[in-house]
Amino acid sequence: METKTHFNPKGVYSKFLELFDSQPILVRSPGRINLIGEHTDYNEGFVMPAAIDRDIVAAIDFSIDDHSTLYSVKHNEFFSFHTSDPAKVKSPLWANYLLGVVRKFIDEGKVVKSFNCVIDGDVPTGAGLSSSAALECSFAFALNHLHRFDIPKMQLITIALWAEHNYAGVKCGIMDQFSSMMGLSGKAFVLDCRSLEYRYFPVNLKECSIVLCDSMVKHSLASSEYNTRRAECEQGVQIIRKHYPQVSSLRDVTLPMIEDYIAEFPEKVYNRCRYVIQENERVLDASKDLEKNDLKSFGKKMYETHKGLSQLYEVSCEELDFLVEESKNINGVLGARMMGGGFGGCTINFVLDSDLKEFITKMCHAYEKKFGVKMNTYVVSIKDGTGILKL
Ligand code: GLA
Repeated sequence: METKTHFNPKGVYSKFLELFDSQPILVRSPGRINLIGEHTDYNEGFVMPAAIDRDIVAAIDFSIDDHSTLYSVKHNEFFSFHTSDPAKVKSPLWANYLLGVVRKFIDEGKVVKSFNCVIDGDVPTGAGLSSSAALECSFAFALNHLHRFDIPKMQLITIALWAEHNYAGVKCGIMDQFSSMMGLSGKAFVLDCRSLEYRYFPVNLKECSIVLCDSMVKHSLASSEYNTRRAECEQGVQIIRKHYPQVSSLRDVTLPMIEDYIAEFPEKVYNRCRYVIQENERVLDASKDLEKNDLKSFGKKMYETHKGLSQLYEVSCEELDFLVEESKNINGVLGARMMGGGFGGCTINFVLDSDLKEFITKMCHAYEKKFGVKMNTYVVSIKDGTGILKL
């Protein structure tokens, strides 16, 4: 059955009062789904994400000494540091996402005063729903609001991204932080990751639900292989640039361009480039499907994306491939694919409401039978991005 975590933001507030005895502000920042457009963001391509009804919540207020204290409810763990020296730490790892944000505020010339902060939430970690981006965004927004720095959301996104690159060590694209910050209830958006122009449009799912099947595989390969994929795409750009000097990313490259020079590409690099070029086209076509509310056609593209991610980009795994294949045997499934960085985490499925119960039961059963693991599923809805939380 669907797995619900019981998270009440009031608990974050009460915990703050209990620990620090002052009145905090509360900020919520959601996880995200990505409808289509995977591994395209760092290639200056297109993505189609949306923020979901799973949040990280940060409670924050100034402290009275020269130390700042962080407390994670999930880890039941404190971390204190001298506010002027938010250095990266070996442990606890969760603190690095916040320390990186403080570092970047200071580097940008902001005078950060000492503070206390309590963090909790119900975005599952390691499931490909961007819990780390939600953590960075909630905290960046909270720190900005507390100090009244008036930093616009676009700049907070780049601060959060800097923390991910430099303190978490994942050279991710901008999609996750952007979605968590800019999401709108009931709407997905197409983001052009080169110009950062974006366009919202309603997702009229009518009789259909978005279901995530969590393989429960924690993507341990994810950060190293992710950075390798990024490097392989850059290698592809270098090869093609010898012939087309104006090319600055895979966004500028077409299939005929790589086919003409196929002999110069190592096979893997060719496959990576091929996938990215096709995926960019798919996002633009898929946005037309959504506008026409043609979920069938959209769903087909989800399956095509999965095939590309699995065979050309090689970021899937046995468990994710199984979940996508299995979905094809169940009535009412319009489309399915792995979502996010890969090597574990969730598949995203469009399922007719009339078949939803059966889908969840059958998928959980099949997964347990095959891998001996009980799978989590999440039926998600599309919500607003980062903002102040009023209790
Ligand atoms: C992770 C990264 C994103 C994006 C996806 C793949 O979620 O954080 O920037 O590259 O993988 O689409």
